Parts: sequence; structure tokens; C-alpha cells
Amino acid sequence: MNANQPSLACLGAPPAFAEKLHVGRPNIGDRERLLARIGGILDRRWLSNNGECVREFEQRMCAVLGVKHCIPVCNATIGLEVAIRALGMKGEVIVPSFTFIATAHALQWQEITPVFCDIDPATHNLDPARIEALITPRTSGIIGVHVWGRPCAIEPLAEIAKAHSLHLMFDAAHAFGCSHGGKMIGNFGEAEVFSFHATKFLNTFEGGAIATNNDNLAERIRLMINFGFKGEDNVIYIGTNGKMHEASGAMGLTSLESMDEFIAVNRAHHHDYARTFDGIPGIALMRFDEKERSNFQYVITEVDQAAFGLHRDELHRVLRAENVLVRRYFFPGSHKQQPYSAYYPNAGLLLPQTERVCGRVLSFPNGTAVTAGDIARVGDIVRAAHEHAPAVRRALQSN
Ligand SMILES: Cc1ncc(COP(=O)(O)O)c(C=O)c1O
Repeated sequence: MNANQPSLACLGAPPAFAEKLHVGRPNIGDRERLLARIGGILDRRWLSNNGECVREFEQRMCAVLGVKHCIPVCNATIGLEVAIRALGMKGEVIVPSFTFIATAHALQWQEITPVFCDIDPATHNLDPARIEALITPRTSGIIGVHVWGRPCAIEPLAEIAKAHSLHLMFDAAHAFGCSHGGKMIGNFGEAEVFSFHATKFLNTFEGGAIATNNDNLAERIRLMINFGFKGEDNVIYIGTNGKMHEASGAMGLTSLESMDEFIAVNRAHHHDYARTFDGIPGIALMRFDEKERSNFQYVITEVDQAAFGLHRDELHRVLRAENVLVRRYFFPGSHKQQPYSAYYPNAGLLLPQTERVCGRVLSFPNGTAVTAGDIARVGDIVRAAHEHAPAVRRALQSN
């Protein structure tokens, strides 16, 4: 290896990156505008409870998405819990296991059983062909997840939901700014829930939003996120505290103003990754449909051990030793996490594609904190790991 090549730190050299390169480093919009907005919040002394920034954030999101309501909430997990409850889901709800754990927890938290359905290995989203076999008299709904911001098979899911009188909603945590058939995500199912957590391409520090075109549902959701208050002293519903506060609203407005720039950077990086991984055997990059709108936030690869020469977990260790903090999403799968693994120890038998994909996916850093030069170096490390696979494996085994 010469000076232009990566060090392969697992072989004893210093890491290629002096500073850690993370998945999910936040995009920060215009600092001055954010600080001016925060100043306005302090001047008004109105910090929460449907303040000016949060109201404006909702209006701007509705305009971007072409949806009637996009109700800001404190995070997507509470957003999911509230939407599930406002829809009246109960008993059992069909969800993928291949998702962040919050999708299942939002159900189990309210003693609704998540029934895990397998995914289509080509899309990583719910496989509609596997759903009907899981429907029982206790099933009340389906929650699809637009994994990586790539929309689910929305029409087949809607047909199944309609045929069996089930509720249908989407965990759209990854999918703000994405479209399906030219229509923005936020307009599908009865409700869709976005996350604006710091790691999402558009963030409000922590936060989320529930989008719906159903006025009655929106009214119930607004009550539920504010303890059920209708008016000053009148509680008419069971509720929780799901409100977004003003500083998050300010960050949301500022992030929205830079949304096109964030997407352009992510998209360019995606193309850089495609170029740098091109020709490395066993590394398949998941692509976005360029005819639709996408936020290009997730750089997802599948590692085929036979072709690459190392298992995904070995490449994960190599890259982390080089200070490239890649992630094994959604390893090991929700069905293998507590309490679900205790409740359903054999669930994996029904989830072969989920288990396979969980063992292959590696997510790479993207966003405005990453440069094209970083991506080229990451590609060099991956290529070197492939070319020196036997030595790398021996080094990993001795460490
Ligand atoms: C698919 C999915 N659903 C739900 C969530 C929960 O979002 P939040 O962190 O805003 O509660 C996440 C967060 O990463 C997610 O990836």
C-alpha cells in the first residue's frame, strides 16, 4: 500500500480519517436566520404551545407537500403513537420488522401487537404478497414504512387494507421531500408520520409531524398532542404532550429554507458513491428513482460476502477502524429485540428476507458534513478491503 492508499487500520496502520466521519451528522441551515428566529422567540416570550414558529412551520410544510394538515409534534415516535391511537387501531397491526424499533414500540406501548411481515428484498419495504396470510380477526391495520425514503408499494397495500376494512398509515420518518407517482409523501394512507430527528436530512433538533388530509382525524390529533384540551379548562379526550416547541419550529423553518440545497448535496454524493463503488465486486448501492422526488439521505449498500470476500460485519469493523462510522441498519431486526424476541422467539422463520437483508446492509455517511473527497477515500478503503480480504480477515480475527 502506498501513501495515496488507505491505511487499513485493522492491519496496524493509523486510521485513514483523523476525525470521525459519521452517518447522520446533521444538516444545519442558515445560522444567522436561525439565531434571528430564536431571538424573536425570546422577545415574544412564547416558547411553546402552538407559537408563531410552529404555526408557520406547519403552513410551509403543507405548501411543500400539498397536504391539508401537517401537524408538528415533539418527535416521530410520539407522532406514531398518537396517529395509531387517533385512528383507533387495536388488537394486531401488521408492520415490517425491518424498520427502526420505534415503529413496533409505538404499537406495543399501547398494548397493540405488532405482527411482523417480511419485506421485498429488492425494495426493503413491506412485501404486499405476504400480508394477507397474517390477517386475523384481531387485525385492525397496516403500517407501511417508507424505508430509506423509498415509498412502499402503496397501491397494493391500499387495496389489501380496503378489501379487509383495515386502517392504513405510513411511518414516513425517512421520507420528507419524497414523492410517489408525482405526489408528495404525506398524502397517502390515512396518515403519514415524518421524523425531524437530528439525523434526518431535515431536522428540528428533535421533532416530527403527522400529515393527513382528513379534517376529523387532524382535529383528534391536535387534541391528543395537547392533553385533550379543547379551550382553556375543558379536557374532552385522553391525550399526551406531543407538542413541538418554538426552538424546534425555528429550526424547522430554517431547515425548510435550505431543503433544496440539502437534497442537491445528498444527490451529488449519491452519484459520487455510485462512481466510487462501481466495479467493486459484492457492493451493491441502493438507487433512487430519479423520475420521483427523493431526499437521497440514505446511502445504503448490500454486501455480498461471496463476491466481496468479507462479511458485512467484517467490512463494518474495517471502516470503523478507519473512523468511518458506517451503520448496520436495522440490525438485527425488530423481531430480535426485546420484548419481541421473548414474545415471538420463532418469528424469524416467517421473515427470511428480513433476516437476510439485516445481515447485508451497510449505511454510509451522507449530508452536508461529508465531502466528495471523503467519499473517494471511503471508496478506496472499501476497494482495498476487498483486494486484501484474506489479510484483513486474519487481522480482524487476531484482534
Ligand atoms: C423508520 C423510523 N421510524 C420512527 C423513527 C422515530 O423517529 P424519532 O426519533 O423522531 O422519534 C425513526 C427514527 O430514526 C425511524 O427511522
